Amino acid sequence: MSENVLEVKDIKTFFYTAKGIVRAVDGVSISVRKGETVGIAGESGCGKSTLAYSIIRLVPPPGRITGGEVFFMGKDVLKLSEEDFRKEVRWKGISMIFQGAMNALNPVYKVGDQIAEPLILHKGLSKTEAYKRAYELLQIVGIDPRRANNYPHELSGGMKQRVMIAMALSLNPSLVIADEPTTALDVVIQAQIMNLLKNLKKELGISIILITHDLALIAEISDKVAIMYAGKIVEYGLSEQIYDNPLHPYTKGLVLSVPRLRGELRELAWIPGAPPDLRQPPPGCRFHPRCNVKIPLCIKEEPPLIEVEPSHYVACWLYSSGSR
Ligand SMILES: Nc1ncnc2c1ncn2[C@@H]1O[C@H](COP(=O)(O)OP(=O)(O)OP(=O)(O)O)[C@@H](O)[C@H]1O
Ligand SMILES: [Mg+2]
Repeated sequence: MSENVLEVKDIKTFFYTAKGIVRAVDGVSISVRKGETVGIAGESGCGKSTLAYSIIRLVPPPGRITGGEVFFMGKDVLKLSEEDFRKEVRWKGISMIFQGAMNALNPVYKVGDQIAEPLILHKGLSKTEAYKRAYELLQIVGIDPRRANNYPHELSGGMKQRVMIAMALSLNPSLVIADEPTTALDVVIQAQIMNLLKNLKKELGISIILITHDLALIAEISDKVAIMYAGKIVEYGLSEQIYDNPLHPYTKGLVLSVPRLRGELRELAWIPGAPPDLRQPPPGCRFHPRCNVKIPLCIKEEPPLIEVEPSHYVACWLYSSGSR
């Protein structure tokens, strides 16, 4: 257990809206070892970003973590004060590349300044040291350091995303959470960014949580994959177990929906219906209204996440002794 960089135990994060409580993350457990990449996949709205925000303690209001534990390097970081978390963990220990963030680069500052400034302000580096580090970071993410003098609009989408990755790496974190890092990019650039993440893992030994709705993309570079549905993990296993031997009917659907031509988005047409309203999730298994192999128990009781083969877990009554 001690080699786990991150261990999330039964975390619950709800949004307390005027229209009801949205159970966005409802009892999720996940662990990431040193140098490991864990992919998290699932349809839009299943709670992937909320899980990421919970880990880095940036859940926006009216959201709140209402239960569970997050251990980073063996320490329960939910118990830290906001100030201690900011000083010890956020960016230094765990950093995040936010969904859609490449468009959040400030248009009026040169990219080098945007990388260097937090290093001066937060890490106390001198100006010379900070710029040296900024050039080094650009090089690490495959950008000619001379580009430090460019403004964001002078860079392509792929380069902007590389700058965001450079910023996430700037304080040498042990864990980087990348939330949909390639969504707005074309297929060729997507592959380049994925390769970059793969190399970073190899060369810097960092751990990565990679979030996307594109299962094909993460299966390729992740050691393990977690499939989320309606605020819960429904299947978790080694990448090849999930991809070659999906067990949960939802995972089977996701794997089947992987387009022949990578990167081209397709509707999950063969899984009828849509994910449930997380203010009133269905009883029993949350997937049952869309499941074509359900049994009566699925409507009544929630299936536990059980290990069906070493390191391969599934929450489905079809694989549980409770169904017999
Ligand atoms: N600030 C908020 N206020 C209220 N509800 C929210 C808020 N942010 C997220 N939610 C709800 O929480 C649920 C999970 O959202 P989340 O953004 O985590 O999903 P996601 O899996 O990241 O989706 P996507 O693939 O579209 O990024 C959704 O039902 C969403 O509507
Ligand atoms: Mg998201």
